Amino acid sequence: MRTVISGPLTLLLLLCGMVAIADDASESAEESPRYTFRELHDPNGIGKFYMGREIARVMGHQGINWLERPEREQEEGLSLLIDALKLKPGMVVADIGAGSGVISTLIAKEVGPKGTVLAVDIQQEMLDALAAKCKKLGIENIEPVLGETKSPRLKPGTVDLVVMVDVYHEFDFPYEMLSEIAMSLKPGGRVAFVEYRKEDPTVPIKEVHKMSQAQVRKEAEQSEFDLKWKETVDTLPRQHVVVFERIDPLD
Ligand SMILES: C[S@@+](CC[C@H](N)C(=O)[O-])C[C@H]1O[C@@H](n2cnc3c(N)ncnc32)[C@H](O)[C@@H]1O
Repeated sequence: MRTVISGPLTLLLLLCGMVAIADDASESAEESPRYTFRELHDPNGIGKFYMGREIARVMGHQGINWLERPEREQEEGLSLLIDALKLKPGMVVADIGAGSGVISTLIAKEVGPKGTVLAVDIQQEMLDALAAKCKKLGIENIEPVLGETKSPRLKPGTVDLVVMVDVYHEFDFPYEMLSEIAMSLKPGGRVAFVEYRKEDPTVPIKEVHKMSQAQVRKEAEQSEFDLKWKETVDTLPRQHVVVFERIDPLD
C-alpha cells in the first residue's frame, strides 16, 4: 500500500530516500565483481575466473584410484611433502580437500595420538572412503568434516596448520574459503598451498590444475586475510609448497 503525503514531511522522506539511493549506488560502485564468467574457456575449467585465473573443475570421487595410485610417492615425493610441513606431535591440522585421505593418514602419524587431523571435503563419498581406510588401519585421530563450497566449517582460532594438497585451484569460492581458513588459524598458525608448478611446462598436469607461486601469493596476500608469506619449499618433484603465517592483526 502507498501513502500519499505532502508538505515538509515529504521533503524529509525524500531526502531520506535520496540518502538510501546514494548508499546503494556507492555500494554497487565499490563492488567490482569478484568472479567473472566467460563462455569461451578451458574445457577442464568451469568458465569462472578469479584474479586472472580460471577455476578448475572439482575432481569427482570417481577419481579415488588416481589419488591412491602406488606410484604417487615416487611422482610427488609425499615423504618430502611431510618433511616440508614441519609437523609436530599434538598439532591440530586441517587437511582441506582431503579426498580419500592419502595425506591425512600421513599427517595423522606425525601429529600422534595427542594431535588431530580435521579431514575436510565437500564430497561425502570421499569422506566415506577415508573413514573406511581409518577403520582398516586403526587410525583414531582423524575427524572427517563435511565442508561446504564456501566454508570448511572450522572453528575460528583453533587450527595450527591448514594443508591443501592439489585442491585450492578447484575451490568454487576461493575468496570465501580462504577468508574462513585464515580465521580458523591460531595466531602464528600456518596455511600451506601445495600446487603443481605452473612455471614448469614439463609438469604433466592440465593447465587449470596448476598454479604459479606468484598467483598463490597474489591471492593469499590480500590484506584482509592477515596472512604473511613465510616460505616456499621447492624440494618436491612437481609441486611447490607455499606457506603463509597468520599474523595477529593487533600486533
Ligand atoms: C584432487 S583432490 C585431492 C585430494 C587430496 N588432497 C589428495 O591429494 O589426495 C581434490 C579434493 O578437494 C575437494 N574439494 C573441492 N572443493 C572443495 C571445497 N570447497 N572444500 C573442501 N574440499 C573441496 C574435492 O572434493 C576433492 O576430494
